[in-house]
Amino acid sequence: MDTGALDVVVPILYIIAFALFIYGLMGLTGPKTAVRGNKIAAVGMLIAVVATLLRVQHNWILIVIGLVVGAALGVPSARQVKMTAMPQMVALFNGVGGGAVALIAWSEFRTSGGFLDTATYVVVASLFAAIVGSVSFWGSLIAFGKLQEILPGRPMGLGRAQQAVNALLLLAAVACAVVAGSGGASQLWIILVLLLAAALGVMVVLPIGGADMPVVISLLNALTGLSAAAAGLALDNTAMIVAGMIVGASGSILTNQMAVAMNRTIPAIVAGGFGGTGVAASDDGVERTVRSTSASDAAIQMAYASQVIVVPGYGMAVAQAQHAVKDMAKLLEAKGVEVKYAIHPVAGRMPGHMNVLLAEADVAYDALKEMDEINDEFARTDVTLVIGANDVTNPAARNDPSSPIHGMPILNVDESRNVIVLKRSMNSGFAGIDNPLFYAERTSMLFGDAKQSVMEVTEELKSL
Ligand code: TAP
Repeated sequence: MDTGALDVVVPILYIIAFALFIYGLMGLTGPKTAVRGNKIAAVGMLIAVVATLLRVQHNWILIVIGLVVGAALGVPSARQVKMTAMPQMVALFNGVGGGAVALIAWSEFRTSGGFLDTATYVVVASLFAAIVGSVSFWGSLIAFGKLQEILPGRPMGLGRAQQAVNALLLLAAVACAVVAGSGGASQLWIILVLLLAAALGVMVVLPIGGADMPVVISLLNALTGLSAAAAGLALDNTAMIVAGMIVGASGSILTNQMAVAMNRTIPAIVAGGFGGTGVAASDDGVERTVRSTSASDAAIQMAYASQVIVVPGYGMAVAQAQHAVKDMAKLLEAKGVEVKYAIHPVAGRMPGHMNVLLAEADVAYDALKEMDEINDEFARTDVTLVIGANDVTNPAARNDPSSPIHGMPILNVDESRNVIVLKRSMNSGFAGIDNPLFYAERTSMLFGDAKQSVMEVTEELKSL
């Protein structure tokens, strides 16, 4: 195709791609349309890639090698990833995007001989992309390491000196960028920019505890989008600008929504220090009694209830109990019990985690109730069955001003007439704090793996 024809065809293809991105994104607003939305956006991305490649004059072999290596690494890992490992997968894929943007900025520096005769806006956009892309890549790697438990999940930082060190690293990166952008033709400057931004990415994410990691991943995702848009500006590539801004905007909105659902501010999250390894419940020396129950007692309690609310949490995802839960609910419904599911916005480890799992088990979408919709119903509910949820049911968030999660909106499970909690031990959830719900008079604990316990309850229900 000659250049004149390309000048017409490529923009048209880009417009089709953008329309598909936006249409696909609309599909992601509900579980029923999400898979289709994802596919539509992927077709849009394919069109954008093809349109971009139409303009490529050389280096075809390198591009093909890159595509093959990327597909060989990306496709199997995306196919095999477990639902519970999805947040770290997102962190890794997002980080790679940031890393690619940082490398584009370096390459721009090299090909323009240190930004010689380059328009100022291109220089500024390239250096912004270098800093933000590198922060995002290294920060995402640390987030991946924490969630994959390669690194400890607890906050690891320099204490009071942390903010000053981070500010110094940012200042130093910007100072080197100014030198690189104003005629410092030596590659040393751009390499220093990338290294200082890398150190900043590591230093910002290390002090943040595991509980805040999904919010951090979403924030880094937004930053990758912004850096890609900046690189698009530098390369004069409309597709990168539009796709980058969509990622930047949606990532920012998601980050904000998660922070609101946890009643935390984004600066407070980035300042770090919250959340732990999520293993040991707090031991304040006060003796409390816990009532444990059996599968058969739990089955009897539920079989004679008129309404049961299921509260799923991260433990249901770990145990992969969703299909067993659906089977149990079917039996209860056959006995005339109304079963509803209470979905907390940050239950699990990623937005919509519980919705996705329950949709996979074909639970009717109407039975899933959002927190605000169901919170008033707990008080008139006979049995609430908590399946591997902890923090999202913790009444300390409402009643104890000294609690680290005080102010976080929770499901009012403690108001229920009876509560049965399925978990393996008295260990804490992701916030690393004790849950008074487990010691409440109306609560009984059914200890064990959630899937196993639900299957045992189902067997008991069959014999009733
Ligand atoms: P958590 O508070 O993390 O509690 C999960 C519980 O599941 C644990 O206490 C654990 O207890 C139990 N568990 C683990 N494996 C199990 C298994 N195989 N069988 C039975 N129980 C099992 O979960 P949650 O209530 O869903 O709260 C989510 C947390 O993540 C909140 O702190 C939230 O702020 C944070 N967070 C979530 C998001 C998103 S977007 N979802 C974003 C940021 C932060 P045992 O070890 O005793 O079994």
